[in-house]
Amino acid sequence: MNNIVVSTDLGQLRQMVPAGTKVVILYDRNVSVWMEQAVDPSWITIPLEGGENLKQWKYVQQVTDSFIEMQIDRSWFLIGMGGGTVCDFAGFIGSVYMRGMMFGFVPTTLLAQVDAALGGKNGIHAGPYKNMIGCTVLPRWVFCHPGVLATLPQKEFHCGLAECIKHGAIASESYFRFIEEEMFPLRKIEDYPRGVLQKLITGSQEIKIKIVEQDLYEKGVRKALNFGHTFGHALAARYPEMSHGEAVAKGMAAATRYSAQKGLLSRESAQRLLHAITSAGLDPKLPCSQSDLVAYMLHDKKKQGNTLGLVLLRDIGQYVLVNEPVQKCKNILRNPGVSLGAQWKEGLTWWLEKAPWVEFRLDLMGDISQVGMVALRMQCMGKEERILLTHPADPEFTEIPESLRQMLSWGAGWVDIPVKAATVYKESLSRLARENGAGIIQSVHFWENPEREIPGKDILNTLVREAFSTGADYLKIAVYTYNEKQSDELLAWCDEQNAREDVNHRITMMIMGEDALRTRKHALSQGYPFVYAASGPQNTTAPGQPSFEALMM
Ligand SMILES: NC(=O)c1ccc[n+]([C@@H]2O[C@H](COP(=O)([O-])OP(=O)(O)OC[C@H]3O[C@@H](n4cnc5c(N)ncnc54)[C@H](O)[C@@H]3O)[C@@H](O)[C@H]2O)c1
Repeated sequence: MNNIVVSTDLGQLRQMVPAGTKVVILYDRNVSVWMEQAVDPSWITIPLEGGENLKQWKYVQQVTDSFIEMQIDRSWFLIGMGGGTVCDFAGFIGSVYMRGMMFGFVPTTLLAQVDAALGGKNGIHAGPYKNMIGCTVLPRWVFCHPGVLATLPQKEFHCGLAECIKHGAIASESYFRFIEEEMFPLRKIEDYPRGVLQKLITGSQEIKIKIVEQDLYEKGVRKALNFGHTFGHALAARYPEMSHGEAVAKGMAAATRYSAQKGLLSRESAQRLLHAITSAGLDPKLPCSQSDLVAYMLHDKKKQGNTLGLVLLRDIGQYVLVNEPVQKCKNILRNPGVSLGAQWKEGLTWWLEKAPWVEFRLDLMGDISQVGMVALRMQCMGKEERILLTHPADPEFTEIPESLRQMLSWGAGWVDIPVKAATVYKESLSRLARENGAGIIQSVHFWENPEREIPGKDILNTLVREAFSTGADYLKIAVYTYNEKQSDELLAWCDEQNAREDVNHRITMMIMGEDALRTRKHALSQGYPFVYAASGPQNTTAPGQPSFEALMM
């Protein structure tokens, strides 16, 4: 893929086509002014409405019908001129029309010049799912004229910068630094020195081409170019009005946070990347919770069976490919949650908004009057699925507490059922949970004891068997430990269990006591299903429970 021409003379385009060859050019209406300067009067020109909407079957059909009508055959040369959408679309037609004809691109957005037009990926969308139908065929050449960016809306320039940041993030710290130093603070495109813009484009192109040359069909290293795209495509599917660049920026931010949550990337490097995204005029914030995206991510081309291929970072300029079990991704994205006890009224609405799930410790929340219950119901409206209901039950409990019964009927997400509760209680609560669509977490606590002992593997293994054979979706084991060695033994056991196919990240080990913070960070990075935090240092609902803030640091 060495035929990439970066030129400041549009007229040079005419020399790119083999002499005597007939030419048809598909171009974005928004670049008519540039198209007119570039084309030869003998060429057939067909305008298109650029944008994501173009990448649909019906337009492929329309264009190929008109090709047939105009008796265009495979001896012709097809040029696609426009942003990434026109290049992807034209490349697809060029690859399949009459089983393929010669084609070349004139990318006119920064995004297309540094990314979309290079690498031979052509295609269209399938409904909300991005780039689902396509092929890999390289263009004969790519003709880049930085001058055409003069008419590009500033917002589109920012979207192109997202792909430049991506290239630096996965492959080159020095290129990343160049972006930080030369592109920020942001200016209008025309206010950058020509040499800087040129370096921005060629620097990115070099990175992309080097990767594509090693792995055209994306068997290995090319996957790195999908950094941010698995999350980004999920976003674009969920929010169709979001542009590719905006979605990729948010997707990179999500992948960066995920890399840090997994303990791969330092917090400082993560901050550096998030800062670059913001400096490029892009918003790294997700419009929904990360876990809400997982459902869309499961439709991604990168999903295979129960695992999802993700590109994550070890450092700026160093990517790592990870095949994550889908359940583990969901868990990591859904944590930490917040446990509310006696001080539950403080910031309840805020926590319901901010935390992916909120535990209501009904035994600590005190009596709630009927009026209070109505008010609480109103506060939880629309967020019911985030509620986890816990009411530790004595073994002699047989009746489900009324508050628990009522809140389950609101549509709470999960209920905690103590393993040691009476069988009749467990059965009736499990039934009620299922009737109301709530997930079931069976839980067991090993509190502080004079012998300073922790449960052995036999006890733990029995708990696993019992919990999952009696309908638990998840098992929570909380243990008070006295030293790091004890904690590490328990965590190692939990990691081993979670890796089992039949358990598949459904056990959470909650260490209580002085080692709680360290071990909960491990739980977060290893994708334990529920990692509990306190709403503040004074509001703990279990010994040593770290605050949400401390866990997020
Ligand atoms: N094939 C690949 O390897 C690859 C890689 C990255 C992105 N993509 C694809 O690229 C697409 C996004 O590309 P894009 O961001 O260029 O979007 P785009 O093609 O929609 O262009 C963005 C907007 O800018 C306008 N425009 C284009 N050039 C202009 C110019 N010079 N002056 C004024 N207006 C101009 C377009 O009409 C459009 O409204 C997505 O569909 C994405 O899937 C493909």
